Amino acid sequence: MATASVLRRRQFLRVDYAARALFAGEARSTLIACAMLRRFSPARSYSFVTTPIFYVNAAPHIGHVYSVVMADALHRWNAMHDRKPAIFSTGTDEHGLKVQEAAAARKIQPAEFCTQVSQKFQSLFLDCDVSYTDYIRTTENRHLKVVDHCWSRLVDGGFIYKGAYEGWYVISDEMFVSNSQVKEVRTNEGKVQTVSIESGNVAEWTQESNYMFKLTHFRDDLLHWLNTPGAVHPTTYIPIVKKWIDESLTDLSVSRTRERLQWGIPVPNDPSQTIYVWLDALINYLTVAGYPRESFLWPPTHQIVGKDILKFHAIYWPAFLIALGLDPPQSIVTHAHWTRNRTKMSKSKGNVVDPVSELKRYGVSALRYYLLKEGSLYHDGDYSDERMVAALNGDLADTLGNLLHRCTSPKVNPSMKIPRYPGNRISHLDQEMIDTLNRSCDSIIEHFNRVEFNHGLVEIFAFLHQANRFIEQNRPWDLVKDPAAKSRLDAVLSVTLETLRIAGILLQPIVPSAANRLLNQLRIPEEKRKVSNATVCILNEESCYDSELLLGKSEGVLFEKI
Ligand code: MSP
Repeated sequence: MATASVLRRRQFLRVDYAARALFAGEARSTLIACAMLRRFSPARSYSFVTTPIFYVNAAPHIGHVYSVVMADALHRWNAMHDRKPAIFSTGTDEHGLKVQEAAAARKIQPAEFCTQVSQKFQSLFLDCDVSYTDYIRTTENRHLKVVDHCWSRLVDGGFIYKGAYEGWYVISDEMFVSNSQVKEVRTNEGKVQTVSIESGNVAEWTQESNYMFKLTHFRDDLLHWLNTPGAVHPTTYIPIVKKWIDESLTDLSVSRTRERLQWGIPVPNDPSQTIYVWLDALINYLTVAGYPRESFLWPPTHQIVGKDILKFHAIYWPAFLIALGLDPPQSIVTHAHWTRNRTKMSKSKGNVVDPVSELKRYGVSALRYYLLKEGSLYHDGDYSDERMVAALNGDLADTLGNLLHRCTSPKVNPSMKIPRYPGNRISHLDQEMIDTLNRSCDSIIEHFNRVEFNHGLVEIFAFLHQANRFIEQNRPWDLVKDPAAKSRLDAVLSVTLETLRIAGILLQPIVPSAANRLLNQLRIPEEKRKVSNATVCILNEESCYDSELLLGKSEGVLFEKI
């Protein structure tokens, strides 16, 4: 009988004859063959961005909006590189004990409860200008079929066996934890409770007969994948994942008894068991890709996750995929969290920031800008009202909005045109601004490609500040009064409007609707709003704008101050 790993290899070999040749040589495992094939295949030209799917046990909070807005910015950024086709998926994770208990507590049927909460997430995301191409709910029929299919393939591949699980389970995290990952704490009422050290959530002792997945079988494959550049980004998270693999890799329980968990997908051919919610949930990414259709887009290029769910995405998920004979993701992009007064947000502490009220108060541009400016892949961001107001009033309104006003108002620009730069050389007076712009564009593009929007935004606003100083030094409001200074006025307006054009292009992923209004006002055609257009072009033969056209009508101030 073929061993599991031989079967796995065969499955993969069926995918491409090229792999067969490669296997004959040096390839040691399925994963290595995948990586080798990738080396021989052209660089990926498509974009496939995913967010985690959100639990529906409670209303959306600001951390969820951060994940989804970051993914949206990346999807929009990839589109500006003309990466096609493009999938951007998000949605809701609706099965599991946590949701079952939340619905029971509200005395509503779980299906109805899920629909209500899922709609809240969906409408919030639309209000946040999130341009997903697919919104998946794990209770949809299309998903149930894919989970069924995957389970059967894992069984056929010999990766699932019946075992007895005994250990701790943390319902709030839907996660099994070992003895060394829990501690005892005393509650306010004096009761002793066992909690997860990592999340602080209550752990329950569980003893069940379950199906187990042979996770330990994939140790080498996982370590190899982790060494692929970009597999986990940023690399600071890689040692954490390796430590988990080294210290606590065990086979994984992938089902619960039906008695305990009714709200979930039954194990095919064994209705007494329900599939573990994380296996069910991770498969959502295959569902949106169209698996197991003949041709489907795979693997995802960027999977955005918060640091709390890295283990599921950097260990369980690639192992499931390799077992299914599929490529693991190209990149798990991991972000840090948002806190409030430097403490974790939680319902019990009552310090959760409600994104719906924030959106009403500050508007979509300010919310997206603030989250992407102060959120980070590396360090937790502390959500503060003062910083939000400073971002809106100081950066968006005073720095960007005001700069636009300063060079488009009829008082300084009576012809209401974008003047061509006079002469065929940049004067030394303007060179400094142009040099900053050129340098900044390269560096911002690099930051955005690395999904480090916060770093890119610092540079955008640094050059916008410099442009405001440039305007103050050149005083176009005085130049306009002196006919002899016409050429200098044209130069000043041309350089400043060029700064705004570039800022508008680069801000499209961050504040799409405001950037669109700005670019419309500057009459930048749609096809000239790409990453390749983010470069200084005032002396180009073919200008980036049509200087014969009048500036578009301002649709009012770009950002209302608060
Ligand atoms: N349902 C799982 C994911 C399954 S994906 C196959 C889940 N859901 S969640 O609703 O709890 O979290 C979804 C995302 O929100 C995670 O990426 C998580 O890190 C993120 N955030 C939750 N709280 C957060 C903060 N306070 N700050 C930033 N993001 C945080 O996990």
